[in-house]
Amino acid sequence: MYTATNPYYTARVRSASIQPTGRRHVWAKLPEVPITSSPVPHLTSLYHFNGAGPYGSRKWPGNCGGNLIKDLLLYFQPTGIVCDPFAGSGTCKEVCDELKLPCMSFDIHTGFDACDPEGFSRSPLFDLIWSHPPYWRMKEYSRDRRDLSRCPTLEAFLIRYAQFFRNCFASLNAGGKLCVLMGDYFDRDGGYIPLVYHTKRLAFAAGFKQHCTDIIRFSHGASSGKKTYTSSFIPSLHDVVAVFEKPMKI
Ligand SMILES: C[S@@+](CC[C@H](N)C(=O)[O-])C[C@H]1O[C@@H](n2cnc3c(N)ncnc32)[C@H](O)[C@@H]1O
Repeated sequence: MYTATNPYYTARVRSASIQPTGRRHVWAKLPEVPITSSPVPHLTSLYHFNGAGPYGSRKWPGNCGGNLIKDLLLYFQPTGIVCDPFAGSGTCKEVCDELKLPCMSFDIHTGFDACDPEGFSRSPLFDLIWSHPPYWRMKEYSRDRRDLSRCPTLEAFLIRYAQFFRNCFASLNAGGKLCVLMGDYFDRDGGYIPLVYHTKRLAFAAGFKQHCTDIIRFSHGASSGKKTYTSSFIPSLHDVVAVFEKPMKI
Protein backbone atom coordinates (compact mmCIF):
# COMPACT_ATOMS: atom_id res chain seq x y z
CA MET A 1 0.00 0.00 0.00
CA TYR A 2 1.19 3.51 -0.74
CA THR A 3 1.27 5.40 2.55
CA ALA A 4 3.44 8.33 3.47
CA THR A 5 4.34 6.53 6.71
CA ASN A 6 5.62 3.37 5.04
CA PRO A 7 9.39 4.05 4.64
CA TYR A 8 9.72 1.47 1.85
CA TYR A 9 7.48 3.53 -0.39
CA THR A 10 8.46 7.00 0.71
CA ALA A 11 10.87 7.58 -2.19
CA ARG A 12 8.41 6.22 -4.71
CA VAL A 13 5.57 8.32 -3.41
CA ARG A 14 7.74 11.42 -3.53
CA SER A 15 8.46 10.79 -7.20
CA ALA A 16 4.85 9.95 -8.00
CA SER A 17 2.57 12.32 -9.85
CA ILE A 18 -1.21 12.25 -9.61
CA GLN A 19 -3.16 11.25 -12.72
CA PRO A 20 -6.42 13.05 -13.56
CA THR A 21 -8.24 9.98 -12.21
CA GLY A 22 -6.77 10.66 -8.78
CA ARG A 23 -4.56 7.56 -8.96
CA ARG A 24 -0.85 7.72 -8.38
CA HIS A 25 1.43 7.49 -11.39
CA VAL A 26 4.84 6.09 -10.42
CA TRP A 27 7.87 6.89 -12.57
CA ALA A 28 10.35 4.01 -12.73
CA LYS A 29 14.03 4.52 -13.45
CA LEU A 30 14.99 2.14 -16.24
CA PRO A 31 18.47 0.62 -16.58
CA GLU A 32 20.90 2.39 -18.88
CA VAL A 33 20.88 1.19 -22.47
CA PRO A 34 24.29 0.15 -23.83
CA ILE A 35 25.45 1.74 -27.07
CA THR A 36 25.13 -0.72 -29.94
CA SER A 37 25.03 -0.54 -33.73
CA SER A 38 21.31 -1.35 -33.67
CA PRO A 39 19.31 0.65 -36.25
CA VAL A 40 16.64 1.05 -33.53
CA PRO A 41 18.61 1.92 -30.38
CA HIS A 42 15.50 2.47 -28.23
CA LEU A 43 14.28 -1.08 -28.91
CA THR A 44 15.34 -2.97 -25.78
CA SER A 45 13.94 -5.81 -23.68
CA LEU A 46 11.70 -3.24 -21.94
CA TYR A 47 9.21 -1.69 -24.35
CA HIS A 48 7.60 1.40 -22.91
CA PHE A 49 6.63 3.53 -25.88
CA ASN A 50 3.77 5.65 -24.59
CA GLY A 51 2.02 6.33 -27.90
CA ALA A 52 0.51 3.48 -29.90
CA GLY A 53 1.05 5.14 -33.28
CA PRO A 54 -1.52 5.94 -35.98
CA TYR A 55 -2.01 2.36 -37.15
CA GLY A 56 -5.00 0.01 -37.02
CA SER A 57 -7.90 0.79 -34.71
CA ARG A 58 -7.62 1.18 -30.94
CA LYS A 59 -11.29 0.18 -30.83
CA TRP A 60 -10.52 -3.35 -32.06
CA PRO A 61 -10.56 -5.68 -29.01
CA GLY A 62 -6.97 -6.62 -28.18
CA ASN A 63 -5.52 -4.04 -30.58
CA CYS A 64 -1.78 -3.55 -30.14
CA GLY A 65 0.12 -0.37 -30.92
CA GLY A 66 1.83 -0.22 -34.30
CA ASN A 67 4.97 1.48 -33.01
CA LEU A 68 6.22 -1.79 -31.55
CA ILE A 69 5.68 -3.60 -34.87
CA LYS A 70 7.37 -0.73 -36.69
CA ASP A 71 10.42 -0.92 -34.42
CA LEU A 72 10.71 -4.68 -34.96
CA LEU A 73 10.45 -4.27 -38.74
CA LEU A 74 13.03 -1.47 -38.74
CA TYR A 75 15.32 -3.65 -36.66
CA PHE A 76 14.96 -6.89 -38.66
CA GLN A 77 14.66 -5.18 -42.07
CA PRO A 78 12.92 -8.08 -43.84
CA THR A 79 13.70 -8.20 -47.55
CA GLY A 80 10.74 -10.40 -48.45
CA ILE A 81 7.06 -10.55 -47.55
CA VAL A 82 5.78 -9.85 -44.04
CA CYS A 83 2.73 -11.77 -42.79
CA ASP A 84 0.23 -11.06 -40.01
CA PRO A 85 -2.09 -14.09 -39.58
CA PHE A 86 -4.08 -12.55 -36.66
CA ALA A 87 -4.53 -9.15 -38.26
CA GLY A 88 -7.46 -7.77 -36.28
CA SER A 89 -7.78 -4.14 -37.33
CA GLY A 90 -4.84 -4.42 -39.74
CA THR A 91 -2.22 -2.65 -37.61
CA CYS A 92 0.75 -4.53 -39.06
CA LYS A 93 -0.39 -4.01 -42.66
CA GLU A 94 -0.67 -0.25 -42.12
CA VAL A 95 2.84 -0.13 -40.64
CA CYS A 96 4.15 -2.13 -43.62
CA ASP A 97 2.39 0.21 -46.06
CA GLU A 98 4.16 3.15 -44.44
CA LEU A 99 7.52 1.36 -44.60
CA LYS A 100 6.77 0.20 -48.16
CA LEU A 101 7.14 -3.45 -47.20
CA PRO A 102 5.02 -6.11 -48.92
CA CYS A 103 2.58 -7.56 -46.38
CA MET A 104 -0.15 -10.19 -46.36
CA SER A 105 -2.53 -9.93 -43.45
CA PHE A 106 -5.37 -12.28 -42.59
CA ASP A 107 -7.87 -12.88 -39.83
CA ILE A 108 -10.65 -15.30 -38.96
CA HIS A 109 -12.98 -12.38 -39.74
CA THR A 110 -11.85 -12.63 -43.36
CA GLY A 111 -12.30 -16.42 -43.39
CA PHE A 112 -8.64 -17.33 -42.81
CA ASP A 113 -7.77 -19.89 -40.13
CA ALA A 114 -4.18 -19.51 -38.90
CA CYS A 115 -4.46 -22.95 -37.27
CA ASP A 116 -5.73 -24.81 -40.33
CA PRO A 117 -4.18 -28.31 -40.40
CA GLU A 118 -3.64 -27.76 -44.15
CA GLY A 119 -1.32 -24.85 -43.34
CA PHE A 120 -1.38 -21.34 -44.79
CA SER A 121 -2.56 -22.79 -48.08
CA ARG A 122 -1.20 -21.33 -51.32
CA SER A 123 0.79 -18.72 -49.39
CA PRO A 124 4.28 -17.80 -50.57
CA LEU A 125 7.23 -18.01 -48.20
CA PHE A 126 7.53 -15.14 -45.75
CA ASP A 127 10.55 -13.36 -44.30
CA LEU A 128 8.90 -12.26 -41.08
CA ILE A 129 5.65 -13.19 -39.37
CA TRP A 130 4.20 -10.81 -36.82
CA SER A 131 1.51 -12.49 -34.74
CA HIS A 132 -0.74 -11.43 -31.92
CA PRO A 133 -3.02 -14.41 -31.24
CA PRO A 134 -5.91 -14.43 -28.75
CA TYR A 135 -4.81 -15.03 -25.17
CA TRP A 136 -7.04 -18.13 -25.24
CA ARG A 137 -10.50 -16.96 -24.05
CA MET A 138 -9.51 -13.76 -22.27
CA LYS A 139 -11.50 -11.93 -24.98
CA GLU A 140 -13.86 -13.54 -27.48
CA TYR A 141 -13.33 -12.29 -31.02
CA SER A 142 -15.95 -13.92 -33.24
CA ARG A 143 -18.67 -16.54 -33.49
CA ASP A 144 -16.52 -18.64 -35.86
CA ARG A 145 -15.92 -22.03 -34.25
CA ARG A 146 -12.31 -21.98 -35.59
CA ASP A 147 -11.59 -18.81 -33.60
CA LEU A 148 -8.80 -19.59 -31.09
CA SER A 149 -10.64 -17.59 -28.44
CA ARG A 150 -13.58 -20.01 -28.65
CA CYS A 151 -11.62 -23.16 -27.72
CA PRO A 152 -13.61 -24.73 -24.87
CA THR A 153 -10.60 -26.02 -22.91
CA LEU A 154 -6.95 -25.07 -22.54
CA GLU A 155 -6.00 -28.43 -24.07
CA ALA A 156 -8.10 -27.69 -27.16
CA PHE A 157 -6.51 -24.24 -27.43
CA LEU A 158 -2.98 -25.67 -27.17
CA ILE A 159 -3.63 -28.30 -29.85
CA ARG A 160 -4.73 -25.56 -32.29
CA TYR A 161 -1.97 -23.18 -31.15
CA ALA A 162 0.64 -25.91 -31.82
CA GLN A 163 -0.70 -26.21 -35.38
CA PHE A 164 -0.26 -22.45 -35.80
CA PHE A 165 3.48 -22.80 -35.04
CA ARG A 166 3.83 -25.67 -37.51
CA ASN A 167 2.09 -23.53 -40.15
CA CYS A 168 4.46 -20.63 -39.49
CA PHE A 169 7.48 -22.90 -39.69
CA ALA A 170 6.36 -24.25 -43.07
CA SER A 171 5.68 -20.72 -44.40
CA LEU A 172 8.92 -19.01 -43.42
CA ASN A 173 12.15 -18.77 -45.34
CA ALA A 174 15.18 -20.29 -43.62
CA GLY A 175 16.44 -17.66 -41.18
CA GLY A 176 12.97 -16.03 -41.16
CA LYS A 177 11.67 -14.53 -37.94
CA LEU A 178 8.45 -15.19 -36.04
CA CYS A 179 7.48 -12.53 -33.48
CA VAL A 180 4.67 -13.56 -31.13
CA LEU A 181 3.01 -11.15 -28.72
CA MET A 182 1.42 -13.13 -25.90
CA GLY A 183 0.45 -12.63 -22.25
CA ASP A 184 -0.41 -14.79 -19.26
CA TYR A 185 -3.72 -14.24 -17.56
CA PHE A 186 -5.97 -15.47 -14.79
CA ASP A 187 -8.79 -17.54 -16.28
CA ARG A 188 -12.20 -17.68 -14.64
CA ASP A 189 -12.13 -21.51 -14.26
CA GLY A 190 -8.59 -22.54 -15.17
CA GLY A 191 -6.64 -20.36 -12.71
CA TYR A 192 -3.39 -18.76 -13.82
CA ILE A 193 -2.61 -19.69 -17.44
CA PRO A 194 1.10 -19.37 -18.36
CA LEU A 195 0.58 -18.74 -22.08
CA VAL A 196 4.06 -17.30 -22.60
CA TYR A 197 5.54 -20.58 -21.37
CA HIS A 198 3.28 -22.55 -23.72
CA THR A 199 4.21 -20.22 -26.60
CA LYS A 200 7.88 -21.07 -26.19
CA ARG A 201 7.29 -24.76 -25.62
CA LEU A 202 5.18 -25.09 -28.76
CA ALA A 203 7.48 -22.92 -30.90
CA PHE A 204 10.49 -25.05 -29.97
CA ALA A 205 8.51 -28.23 -30.62
CA ALA A 206 7.72 -26.92 -34.13
CA GLY A 207 11.45 -26.48 -34.84
CA PHE A 208 12.03 -22.81 -34.01
CA LYS A 209 14.88 -21.52 -31.89
CA GLN A 210 14.76 -18.34 -29.86
CA HIS A 211 16.46 -15.51 -31.71
CA CYS A 212 16.98 -12.84 -29.04
CA THR A 213 15.80 -11.52 -25.72
CA ASP A 214 12.12 -11.46 -24.87
CA ILE A 215 10.63 -7.99 -25.15
CA ILE A 216 8.50 -7.06 -22.16
CA ARG A 217 5.80 -4.71 -23.39
CA PHE A 218 4.48 -2.40 -20.69
CA SER A 219 0.67 -2.43 -20.74
CA HIS A 220 0.21 1.33 -21.00
CA GLY A 221 -3.43 2.11 -21.69
CA ALA A 222 -4.84 -1.31 -20.66
CA SER A 223 -8.45 -0.95 -19.50
CA SER A 224 -7.75 -3.15 -16.43
CA GLY A 225 -5.46 -0.41 -15.10
CA LYS A 226 -8.47 1.82 -14.59
CA LYS A 227 -10.50 -0.76 -12.66
CA THR A 228 -10.86 -1.27 -8.91
CA TYR A 229 -10.85 -4.87 -7.67
CA THR A 230 -11.99 -6.05 -4.25
CA SER A 231 -9.72 -9.13 -4.36
CA SER A 232 -5.99 -9.18 -3.61
CA PHE A 233 -3.60 -10.23 -6.40
CA ILE A 234 -0.36 -9.13 -8.06
CA PRO A 235 -1.42 -7.13 -11.12
CA SER A 236 0.30 -8.07 -14.37
CA LEU A 237 1.36 -4.90 -16.19
CA HIS A 238 3.01 -6.42 -19.23
CA ASP A 239 2.87 -8.94 -22.00
CA VAL A 240 5.77 -10.48 -23.92
CA VAL A 241 7.07 -10.52 -27.47
CA ALA A 242 9.02 -13.72 -28.06
CA VAL A 243 11.18 -13.67 -31.21
CA PHE A 244 11.87 -17.00 -32.88
CA GLU A 245 13.95 -17.93 -35.90
CA LYS A 246 13.64 -20.75 -38.39
CA PRO A 247 17.16 -22.25 -38.41
CA MET A 248 19.20 -21.87 -41.62
CA LYS A 249 19.84 -25.62 -41.61
CA ILE A 250 17.11 -28.01 -40.55
C1 LIG B 1 -5.29 -9.99 -30.20
S1 LIG B 1 -6.28 -9.81 -31.63
C2 LIG B 1 -5.16 -9.09 -32.79
C3 LIG B 1 -5.31 -7.59 -32.83
C4 LIG B 1 -4.39 -6.94 -33.83
N1 LIG B 1 -2.99 -7.16 -33.48
C5 LIG B 1 -4.65 -5.44 -33.93
O1 LIG B 1 -3.73 -4.66 -33.69
O2 LIG B 1 -5.77 -5.04 -34.19
C6 LIG B 1 -6.41 -11.47 -32.17
C7 LIG B 1 -7.07 -11.65 -33.50
O3 LIG B 1 -7.02 -13.04 -33.85
C8 LIG B 1 -8.16 -13.34 -34.63
N2 LIG B 1 -8.30 -14.81 -34.66
C9 LIG B 1 -8.77 -15.64 -33.68
N3 LIG B 1 -8.68 -16.92 -34.06
C10 LIG B 1 -8.10 -16.92 -35.29
C11 LIG B 1 -7.73 -17.95 -36.19
N4 LIG B 1 -7.92 -19.24 -35.91
N5 LIG B 1 -7.14 -17.59 -37.38
C12 LIG B 1 -6.96 -16.27 -37.67
N6 LIG B 1 -7.31 -15.25 -36.86
C13 LIG B 1 -7.87 -15.59 -35.66
C14 LIG B 1 -9.27 -12.55 -33.96
O4 LIG B 1 -10.35 -12.31 -34.84
C15 LIG B 1 -8.53 -11.26 -33.54
O5 LIG B 1 -8.71 -10.24 -34.52
